[in-house]
Amino acid sequence: MEIIIQPDSLGASYLAARIIAGLVRAKPQAVLGFATGQSPFKLYQFLIKIHSNEGLDFSRVTAFNLDEYVGLDPTHPASYHSYMRDNLFSRINIPEDRVNIPDGLADDIPASCRAYEDRIRAAGGIDLQILGIGTDGHIGFNEPSSSLASRTRIKTLTEQTRKDNAALFGGEEKVPHHVITMGLGTIMDCRTCLLLAFGNKKANAIAQAVEGPLTAMVPASILQLHPRTIVIIDEEAASGLQRAFYYKWVYSHKPDWQKY
Ligand code: F6R
Repeated sequence: MEIIIQPDSLGASYLAARIIAGLVRAKPQAVLGFATGQSPFKLYQFLIKIHSNEGLDFSRVTAFNLDEYVGLDPTHPASYHSYMRDNLFSRINIPEDRVNIPDGLADDIPASCRAYEDRIRAAGGIDLQILGIGTDGHIGFNEPSSSLASRTRIKTLTEQTRKDNAALFGGEEKVPHHVITMGLGTIMDCRTCLLLAFGNKKANAIAQAVEGPLTAMVPASILQLHPRTIVIIDEEAASGLQRAFYYKWVYSHKPDWQKY
C-alpha cells in the first residue's frame, strides 16, 4: 500500500483528481470504478473543473459504481444513481450508456448481480476503483464479516452504517437495510484501488485497515493483499497510524519518475 498523508481533504482530493486525470489522458478508454458519499465529493468537483478548464475527455470512459440501496428508485434523492448524476455524471461528458450502477430495483437480484460482474469483465476489468471507508472498516458496502472473496451481491447494512448515513435520508429509520455492492473479490480484481478518508472519525478504521491484522472484521484490511492500492488521507484520518512519519518520508522522497 502507498499511504499519502496530505494536510487537508482539499489537497488530498486534488491529488486524487490529478491521478485520475493522468490515467484518463494516458488511457482514454479507461474503466473507472466510482464511490459515493462524502469522501469523494471534492474529488468529483475537481474532476468537473479539470473537464471544463482543461478539456479532460470522458467520452470513452466506462464507469462502474460500487453500490446502490435495494428498493430505491434511481430518482430518489438519496439513491446513488442520483448522487452520481448530480455530483459528476451530468457535469462531464461521459455517455449515459457507459455508466453502470447496480440496480436496486431488480426483480431477480442474484441474476442482476451476476450480470453486473459480467459487464465488468466484458469491459476488460476496472482500471482504477475509487473507495471510501466506513467507520466500521467497510469498503463498498462489504460490512464486517463479509467474505474476503465475495462478488457483487446483496448485503445487509450494520446499525452503525445506517446511523452514519441517516442524515441523507432524514432519519435512521428511513435508511434501507439492504444494498447491492461489489464484493471484496470484485474490488481486489481492480488494477488500482484509490482509497480516500478524511477526518478524525475515520482514524480508527484507517489504522486498522492499514496497520492492523488482515481480517474480515475490518473488510478494508483485504487491501493489504492488493498489489496497487493508494491510500490518500488527511492528517486527522492519519492520526491513529503508528508509522505516519515513515509514510510521509517515503512520499516526500519519491524519485521523480515515481511522482504523480
Ligand atoms: C459508497 C461506499 C461506502 C462509503 C463509505 C464512506 O459508495 O461504497 O463504502 O465509501 O461508507 O462514506 P463517506 O465517504 O460518506 O464517509
